[in-house]
Amino acid sequence: MMKRPQPPFGGGGSGGHRRPAILYLLIAASVFSLFIFAIQSSLFTGNQNILAVNKEEIWILSHFQSNVKQCVAKRGLGLTANIIDHCKLVLKFPEGTDSRWFNKQFKVFEPLEYSYDVCETLLLWEQYRNMSTILTREYLDARPDGWLTYAAKRIAQLGADKCYNRTLCEEILRMLLPPYPPFHPHQFKTCAVVGNSGDLLKTEFGEEIDSHDAVIRDNEAPVNKTYAKHVGMKRDFRIVVRGGARNMIPILRGSDDEVLIIKSLTHRVFNEMIERVPNPVYLFQGIVLRRGAKGTGMKTIELALSMCDIVDIYGFTVDPGYTEWTRYFSEPKGGHNPLQGRAYYQLLECLGVIRIHSPMRAKRKVDWSDVPNRDMINKAHMAAVRLTNAQTGQAGDLGPFRSCKVWGNVGPNERGPISGSPDMSDIRKRSNYSKWEEMPFEKLRKEAQDHYIQMQGTSMYKMDGNKLDDLVCVRHTLESGN
Ligand SMILES: *[C@@H]1O[C@H](CO)[C@@H](O)[C@H](O)[C@H]1NC(C)=O
Ligand SMILES: *[C@@H]1O[C@H](CO)[C@@H](O)[C@H](O)[C@H]1NC(C)=O
Ligand SMILES: *[C@@H]1O[C@H](CO)[C@@H](O)[C@H](O)[C@H]1NC(C)=O
Ligand SMILES: *[C@@H]1O[C@H](CO)[C@@H](O)[C@H](O)[C@H]1NC(C)=O
Repeated sequence: MMKRPQPPFGGGGSGGHRRPAILYLLIAASVFSLFIFAIQSSLFTGNQNILAVNKEEIWILSHFQSNVKQCVAKRGLGLTANIIDHCKLVLKFPEGTDSRWFNKQFKVFEPLEYSYDVCETLLLWEQYRNMSTILTREYLDARPDGWLTYAAKRIAQLGADKCYNRTLCEEILRMLLPPYPPFHPHQFKTCAVVGNSGDLLKTEFGEEIDSHDAVIRDNEAPVNKTYAKHVGMKRDFRIVVRGGARNMIPILRGSDDEVLIIKSLTHRVFNEMIERVPNPVYLFQGIVLRRGAKGTGMKTIELALSMCDIVDIYGFTVDPGYTEWTRYFSEPKGGHNPLQGRAYYQLLECLGVIRIHSPMRAKRKVDWSDVPNRDMINKAHMAAVRLTNAQTGQAGDLGPFRSCKVWGNVGPNERGPISGSPDMSDIRKRSNYSKWEEMPFEKLRKEAQDHYIQMQGTSMYKMDGNKLDDLVCVRHTLESGN
């Protein structure tokens, strides 16, 4: 189909410098445009084939898109969804929305339009329901270069980009590293993720938050009588970043069982803090290294989704009329991308990933009937899986292990000791690691047991953040003879 033009001058660029140079440029340009044309037409016919073969998937997804559009119209407080095709969707803020947050890096105000690939978003977030998001020893053992390269990236005080001395790295991580995932997919039915927005003071969600099976907070969020009616008193998990470590000790007082999960790196300030509290501490696993992590809010949602069926979010800045980034317990602080965040959280709500609670939504009747239900989401998800498989030509495997790139195996006698180390400070000897790591299988919620059995006790982890097909999967060989 494409003919490569012969070069007019047999290799030599002799005689006259200008003319041949221009000719070469012209030839190069025409070859290039032919090449682009060829690529475009092959893509086009490729797409046509996929559209013809996957009519049913396209139909399911298009139908799903119209449900998402309706959901955004009903719940988005002014946001609207424009459908581009069976996967692509644009969320628009109304004309005249105050876009006052200034992006210093790109020197622009936030745009009023955001485009999404709903198929991909669905694939990504449904995957979290089966993931472990805690860094474990079995993960480091199974991942290629897990100890040498990955572990080193999680230790700020190492001062080297590789664990050339593995003993040293093991020593630093020992206290934070459980042998296998301490928490299970579907362990809880409902979870509340509580952000730190000052909007929390406009409502009294306290009791509602406390009625969840688990509550996840972040950083320095104080929990005490002063704020109880706004943010509740229940404390189960807390994601912390480096900056939060310094003030953590008074905040944790009276909450010895609250699990701390370090978002990115462990480092000296953390180590010193950890020595002085009895709380169980782990490292978050699904961090996007190098490219820089997304906001803590996203990470708390990932953590929640890896343990909870229903994720209710409170205290995120998601209402129209943003003026400045506030926190419920301190002066306003520099924030980031309020419109982009609001649009994305709205999309996630309409994909059944989270349920948003905020002052402007507090008064309406609690009614989730305009959000696509589980059945519709599962159908759309499977259609997206089949479509992606058809596009990448890896048809066939639709099972739950299709994205496992790397496998590890752990036998019944190689599980290793639970977290904690023999040289712990006196206060850490009270750490209640066993509460999670030695919970008997029979005590797990039925849905979690069913999932464990269906997955044959395999734990799944992401290798690097947001890629879909790079899972590290670890098989747990069960005790022989039952
Ligand atoms: C490796 O680290 C351990 C623990 O800190 C230390 O005892 C040992 O001497 C180190 N080995 C080398 C070769 O530096
Ligand atoms: C609650 O925490 C805030 C912030 O740390 C503090 O100012 C306040 O005094 C605390 N209230 C109580 C009753 O402890
Ligand atoms: C540890 O957790 C268990 C299970 O929730 C609880 O019964 C026990 O009281 C806790 N122990 C301590 C020392 O907090
Ligand atoms: C998640 O696990 C369930 C079993 O509980 C399985 O049916 C499903 O296919 C898995 N989902 C994904 C996205 O892997």
